[in-house]
Amino acid sequence: MARGSALVSARVAAMHGYTPGEQPVGGRLIKLNTNENPYPCSPLVVQAIADEAHRLQLYPSPNADALRVKAGAVYGVAPEQVLVGNGSDELLAMILRGCVLDGEAVAYSVPTYSLYRTLADSVGARVIEVAADGTAIPSALAAARARVTFVCTPNSPTGRAVPLDAVAAFARDAEGVVVVDEAYGDFAASSALSILADHPNMVVTRSFSKSFSLAGLRLGLAFGHADFIGELLKVKDSYNVSRLAIAAGVAALDDYAWMQSNVARVRATRVRVTARLRAAGFGVEDSHANFVWVDCARVGGGRTVYDRLRAAGVLVRYFDTDGLRDGMRASIGTDEQMDVMLGVLEG
Ligand SMILES: Cc1ncc(COP(=O)(O)O)c(C=O)c1O
Repeated sequence: MARGSALVSARVAAMHGYTPGEQPVGGRLIKLNTNENPYPCSPLVVQAIADEAHRLQLYPSPNADALRVKAGAVYGVAPEQVLVGNGSDELLAMILRGCVLDGEAVAYSVPTYSLYRTLADSVGARVIEVAADGTAIPSALAAARARVTFVCTPNSPTGRAVPLDAVAAFARDAEGVVVVDEAYGDFAASSALSILADHPNMVVTRSFSKSFSLAGLRLGLAFGHADFIGELLKVKDSYNVSRLAIAAGVAALDDYAWMQSNVARVRATRVRVTARLRAAGFGVEDSHANFVWVDCARVGGGRTVYDRLRAAGVLVRYFDTDGLRDGMRASIGTDEQMDVMLGVLEG
């Protein structure tokens, strides 16, 4: 019998798949490993899903038109500038499928979201990774002249952000597509949506998973110039987003204040957790997202701290990757959840 690796293309056989954060079954652990929101989504979303469940015998709108219209109104763009995806991950994949040919360059600074590598490998791109601290765009990225450059801001796993004027300057000089990944954008002070109109080569991706508390739904938005989004629609799966997700997305944007209030709570907890960790002697990044990056070198490294927390029922994220082994990333949960984590780390 043929081995699986002989059945897939040589490109796929050679690549590594993405390693997602652990999704444990049962609710025993305090889950701080994949940057979910600890607070539930708006009740309007739950109601919209229940209502829409009666219409599941019908296909959804192929381009999620109702959500494009709603998002256009909320974010101040035309509906034709909005692309709806099954999570922002799908939008990132769509952008590479639409923009990159075999051997063309995809660039980004590291450390960052490791899915970029998997997606770039899956389209046969030449990957250019440039080490950077996440507070600026390194000049080597401009020199790379890539077909697609990912700028993750706020960045994961550090929580650092690139100032908007640096993003604008980079996009102005770039020949290729600049993807500004704002999965954590609602927790930050600024958004590249405010400069999108000036940059026809820019696309901004946003997620409902974090700020809108809808990680389990799978919904994301990409914003770009209408003609660019129109081209990307060609490589979209025909019905990529379900009726339930479209209805939920519209309701989530209808109740924008619900999201903002949860974001405010998370930000307040982030300030408190950062101060407590620093007081306990940990190096902690100033985070612009819903997680903190904690330097654990002083106490045996990220793996040791991960194990200690896990034994106490708290799940954080450890990356067994060069440059990241000294630290761990902890999502911002409720105050009570964070107190459990702090109790272990301060002990
Ligand atoms: C930087 C970054 N971009 C995109 C995503 C994907 O988000 P979504 O759930 O919308 O696919 C994540 C998820 O953790 C992320 O950290």
